[in-house]
Amino acid sequence: MDTQWFEIQSAEDRAQIDAAADILRCGGLLAIPTETVYGLGADGLNEDAVLHIFEAKGRPQDNPLILHVPSAEWLTRYCEDVPETAYRLAEKFWPGPLTMILKKKELVPLRTTGGLNTVGMRCPDHAVTRAIIERAGVPVAAPSANISGRPSCTNAEDVREDMWGKIDGIVDGGACQVGVESTIIDLTVTPPQLLRPGGLPLEDLRDVLGEVSVDKAVTGKMADGEKPRAPGMKYRHYAPKAPVTVVTGEARASARYLLTHIGADAGVIVFDEFAELFSGHIVHKLGGSGDKAAQAQNVFDALRAFDNTGVTEIWAQCPDSGGLGLAISNRLKKAAGFHCINVPDDTIVIGITGGTGAGKTTLLEILKKNGALILDCDAVYHEMLCSDETLRGAIREAFGDVFEKDGALNRQKLGNIVFGDSEKLQQLDAIVHEHLPRELSRRMADSDADIIGLDAIKLIESGLAALCDTTIAVTAPEETRVRRIMKRDGITEEYARSRIHAQKSDGWFEQHCDHVISNHYATSSEAKENIRKRLNIIFMQLKEEKQHGR
Ligand code: TXA
Ligand code: MG
Repeated sequence: MDTQWFEIQSAEDRAQIDAAADILRCGGLLAIPTETVYGLGADGLNEDAVLHIFEAKGRPQDNPLILHVPSAEWLTRYCEDVPETAYRLAEKFWPGPLTMILKKKELVPLRTTGGLNTVGMRCPDHAVTRAIIERAGVPVAAPSANISGRPSCTNAEDVREDMWGKIDGIVDGGACQVGVESTIIDLTVTPPQLLRPGGLPLEDLRDVLGEVSVDKAVTGKMADGEKPRAPGMKYRHYAPKAPVTVVTGEARASARYLLTHIGADAGVIVFDEFAELFSGHIVHKLGGSGDKAAQAQNVFDALRAFDNTGVTEIWAQCPDSGGLGLAISNRLKKAAGFHCINVPDDTIVIGITGGTGAGKTTLLEILKKNGALILDCDAVYHEMLCSDETLRGAIREAFGDVFEKDGALNRQKLGNIVFGDSEKLQQLDAIVHEHLPRELSRRMADSDADIIGLDAIKLIESGLAALCDTTIAVTAPEETRVRRIMKRDGITEEYARSRIHAQKSDGWFEQHCDHVISNHYATSSEAKENIRKRLNIIFMQLKEEKQHGR
C-alpha cells in the first residue's frame, strides 16, 4: 500500500486538511498527531475501517478503541446518559489528555468498543487533528499508532517505522508535547474510577470529582484470572529484550543503589543529573529528577533506546507517583513486569569541597566526632589503585603496564605519562570518574552511619555532587590559606600562591555549592564554633526537607 506523508503546519491549510479528512471519510487509515502520542485513526462508525486498525497494529480484538472528537458538543451523538460531570471535566480539561468512559449509543459498533456497551471519548489538544476530524465529520477511533506491544510513538518518524506501507497516510505534526497517553476515567461507575494514569494528573481529576478510585491494574501486577477494567492494561506495554528492574525511592538514594547493583553490561535509564556517573554504560536520560513533564516526554524513547544494543539488563530510576509521576512510573513498571525495588532513604550525604588550605579538615573532624563516615575521594581512589582490578585493568589498557611486579602503582611512571599531556590527563580523569562513584556508593551502603561526608576537591566537576543531599564549600581569605599551606607543606610563598590561583575561586564555589562556610576567623576555636553553628542549621534544614519530601 502507498502511504501518503502530510506535513500540515496549521489548521488553516484547507487543501491538506481536506485530503487527510478524505482518507478517513473513505474508510482509510490515517496516523494523526495528538498532544499525548500519535494515534492510528479511522472512521469509528465504519466496522471495516475499524477492523483494519486492529490488523495494522496486530492488536487483539477485545481491546477497545477510543473515539476522538473535536469538542464536547459531539458527546451526545455517540453517548447515552452523559452525566453532568462529563461536561464539567470537558470544560476544564478538553481539549487535553483525558479520555472519559461513557455509555455508548447503538450506532457505535461493538467492533470499536471491543464488545463493551461503553465507549472512551477524547478531544485531543492538537488543532490540526481536530480540524481533520471536524472536516471528516466522523468520530475517529484511534489507538496509539505503534505496532501492538511496542512503545507508543511520540513523533512521526516512529510511526513511519511501525506503519509505513500498511496505512494510507501519516500526518506529521511534530513531537508530542505530553509523551504519555491520555488519562482514562470511567464515569459509568460511582465513584468514578481511574483506569489508566496518563497526561492529566489524578490530583486534577480529584479536584473536580472529589473521590476517585484507582483500578488495581494501575499500580500492580494483576493475578492470573484477574481482569483490569481497561482491557488494554492487561497487556505488557513494552518489554525490552533484556529484563528491566525499576528502582523507586528518593532519587539520590536510587542512584547510589544502581551504582552498586548493576552489572558491567547493564543499560540504565536515569535522571539527567546522574547520567555522568554511569559513563561506562549505555545511558538513557529520563529528564531531571524534578522535571516530570520532561520524564513523560522521554519515557517511551528511553524504553526503545536499548533495542539493538548488547545490554543484558536494564535498570531504571523512577519518579514518585505524584502528578505525572503516576503515569511515568506505570509505564516503566509495566515494562518491568512490575519488577520493582524500593530503596529507603535513611542516610544524609554531605559533599564537602574547597581549595587547599581553606580549612576543610576542621569541618571533617567535627563531622567525624558526630559519628559521620568520611569518604576521602582521593584516598579511596588510591586504595582502588592497589586493589580494584577493574580500575587497574582500565588504567593498564589506557597507559600500558604502570604497575610494579608486587602490584603497586609506579606513580612516577604514570605521572610521566599524564602530567604535561592534557589529553592523557583527561583520559585518566575519565577513568577515575567512571570507577570511583561505584566504590563510593558501595562504601556508603556498607556503612551504618546516618551521616556520610564525601570529601572531594572535584566534587562538582566529577558529577559526584548529584549523590549528595547537600554540598558545602569551605573557603578562606587568600592570605590565611597561603600561610597555612606554607607551614603545612613547607613550601615557598610564591609556590603556595600559584597553587591557590590554579584552583577554583571563592565566587565559583558560591555559585556551584548549596552552602559556603567562610573560614576567616582569627583563632581556630572561633572557626570551629562557626562551623558547628552552620552545620547545625544545615542539618536542621536537611531533616525538615527529608520529612516533607523534596
Ligand atoms: O492518548 C491516548 O489516549 C492515545 C491517543 C492516540 O489519543 N490513544 C491511546 O489508545 O492510547 P490505546 O488504544 O492505545 O489505548 C486505549 C486504552 C486501552 O487500554 C483500552 O483498553 C482502553 O483505553 N479502553 C478503550 N475503551 C474502553 C472502554 N470502553 N472501557 C474501558 N477501557 C477502554
Ligand atoms: Mg496503546
